[in-house]
Amino acid sequence: MRPLRVLLCFIWPHLVGGFLKTHQKRPEKVDSKANSESVLFADSNSAPTFNPDVIVIGSGIGGLCAANILNHVHKKSVLVLESHYLPGGCAHSFPIKGYDFESGPTILLGCTQAPLNPLRQVLDICSLKLDWISYKSWGVLGDGEEQWDLELGKDANNRIKFETVLSEQGGAAAASEFADLLDKTKPLIVPATEIPAMALRADSKVLFTLLVKHFRSLVKLLQLPDAGTGPFEPYINGPIHVVTDPWLRSWLDGLAFSLSGLPAARTPASAMSYVLWDLHRANGSLDYPKGGMKSLVNALVSGLGDDVVRLRSHVASIDVTDNNVRGVTLKSGESIKCNEGVICNAPLWNLKNLLAPAESSEDSVKTLLGEIESVNMTRSYLHLHVGLDATGIDQTKLKPHYTVFEKGMVGDAEHVCTELNMIAVSNVCNLDDSLEVPEGKIMMHAYACGNEDYGIWENLSKDEYELKKKERGEALWSAIEKVVPDARERCEVELLGSPLTHERFLRRPRGTYGAEVESLLKDGSTGVGGLVLCGDGIFPGIGLPSVALSGVSAANSFVSVWRQLKSY
Ligand SMILES: Cc1cc2nc3c(=O)[nH]c(=O)nc-3n(C[C@H](O)[C@H](O)[C@H](O)COP(=O)(O)OP(=O)(O)OC[C@H]3O[C@@H](n4cnc5c(N)ncnc54)[C@H](O)[C@@H]3O)c2cc1C
Ligand SMILES: *[C@@H]1O[C@H](CO)[C@@H](O)[C@H](O)[C@H]1NC(C)=O
Ligand SMILES: *[C@@H]1O[C@H](CO)[C@@H](O)[C@H](O)[C@H]1NC(C)=O
Ligand SMILES: *[C@@H]1O[C@H](CO)[C@@H](O)[C@H](O)[C@H]1NC(C)=O
Repeated sequence: MRPLRVLLCFIWPHLVGGFLKTHQKRPEKVDSKANSESVLFADSNSAPTFNPDVIVIGSGIGGLCAANILNHVHKKSVLVLESHYLPGGCAHSFPIKGYDFESGPTILLGCTQAPLNPLRQVLDICSLKLDWISYKSWGVLGDGEEQWDLELGKDANNRIKFETVLSEQGGAAAASEFADLLDKTKPLIVPATEIPAMALRADSKVLFTLLVKHFRSLVKLLQLPDAGTGPFEPYINGPIHVVTDPWLRSWLDGLAFSLSGLPAARTPASAMSYVLWDLHRANGSLDYPKGGMKSLVNALVSGLGDDVVRLRSHVASIDVTDNNVRGVTLKSGESIKCNEGVICNAPLWNLKNLLAPAESSEDSVKTLLGEIESVNMTRSYLHLHVGLDATGIDQTKLKPHYTVFEKGMVGDAEHVCTELNMIAVSNVCNLDDSLEVPEGKIMMHAYACGNEDYGIWENLSKDEYELKKKERGEALWSAIEKVVPDARERCEVELLGSPLTHERFLRRPRGTYGAEVESLLKDGSTGVGGLVLCGDGIFPGIGLPSVALSGVSAANSFVSVWRQLKSY
């Protein structure tokens, strides 16, 4: 097995995103108190449950994808246990005063026009239908008058539209450096463009599926230069390619930052390459599910049938005996057994509590918890959800999304990623008039991207907390005002979410955006029989395509390679 493993370790990172340091020792410890179990438990109140083949803990997009593949493709019975009273995890929507606010993601690529997004692949293979709204433009606003639009795709002459912006905004070398960059990174998109999500599985047998069904792609993967397994660094700082233009470098940082919560140099090269390719390919577009993220979550939930997703069912422990998972026990005391195993979609760090009772007896559990303890978290979020009076607002002059750089886009090395600089503003009412908002109103969501410190919000008195919200919320308000100048006068609902809100409602310890790229677990396998992990702590990390992929991989590891190969 050893040569196989070595080979696998080498190729695995290529498959979907690629990163270098999967096997490095991680000396730094994460605060062990950093878990969300101490806040807001929900009580289970449902009727007694049957024993499913597989229990899925958490209804994040990762968990829902895993459950759907198990159920539709592998014909296993599943039960999804969700702590919150709403499904979807980070992607859930919550109703307030007639608005359905979207808690997190709204930006998706590759779901229409030769779709390659693993999320779309899951929907297709499970025959779940969604209508998509495609759009091709995204607004970027800097400090002062700085303003440009990212136009996706190519023009009639097959020229990348973004090159126009590059030649206007960037320096003399920007356009040619960008063209070279696309060229040099093209081989890295092999895994995403050639190998379907269904080929993957969360164990080392993935090599067989690739050998048998995707041999040519495997050969191409093995021919990639060694650096292809790593972060984007060598593609912007050399030796493979050097980007010198400060404007282009800052934009790449901005793009990367929204993917990984880290600057471009520390984002997986393959993920960056894939996004650059998908944004600028001939039919490149952004895709939004009609009806909003709620309709995506609903499709995945209802695809499983009635009562398969049990809300308000907080899992208190994963029950392990003789190194095998037997089932789970809920906060309410109810125990549920499983026939085959458990997929855990809860954030990695929560496993510390879930596996605590077994910690003393099982070595495999100790090993797993040891591994997780050294996984570094990215920082948290600051959100501002607003409901605005739309009278006189001309949506045709606005964009569905903006990236606002409060302190300007171009600056020194880590400028883009500094606190409260880069703020995303989503204006999804621009795309879809079927969204739930009161008549004549629109909703907007502004958020700081994964760089809000949890520590500054900890242990505050109620007054201090309210004051902090006011102070820190200013930058978000300012970003919204760049889009709608008189937004404050139009505002009828204002919700500011801090890292504590994020922790409380998403069960995410310290409100983290997810694991740092260098810390991701290489796959969802554990040494504990029947226990598989999925979600954004697992390679390839944060984002809906990534967690969909880890969900598919987790599900596939519950069937034999041969059964998997026959299933797609
Ligand atoms: C503000 C924001 C904007 C984003 N924007 C984008 C975007 O535009 N595009 C994109 O692709 N990605 C985006 N992301 C990232 C993406 O949303 C996440 O990476 C992804 O949704 C995480 O999914 P997951 O399956 O890993 O888990 P999660 O969404 O974290 O779900 C885990 C679930 O497990 C439940 N749970 C935890 N513990 C227990 C327990 N003990 N018992 C029962 N249930 C439990 C939680 O309640 C939760 O529902 C964004 C994220 C945020 C926060
Ligand atoms: C782009 O889309 C058009 C229309 O949907 C389709 O005919 C064409 O083949 C697509 N081109 C590419 C390169 O995918
Ligand atoms: C907040 O309180 C906890 C528990 O007392 C402590 O461990 C933590 O360090 C405190 N955090 C800050 C930022 O003061
Ligand atoms: C985690 O963070 C610490 C402190 O910043 C750092 O020393 C360590 O190398 C990080 N771990 C990984 C895997 O990057």
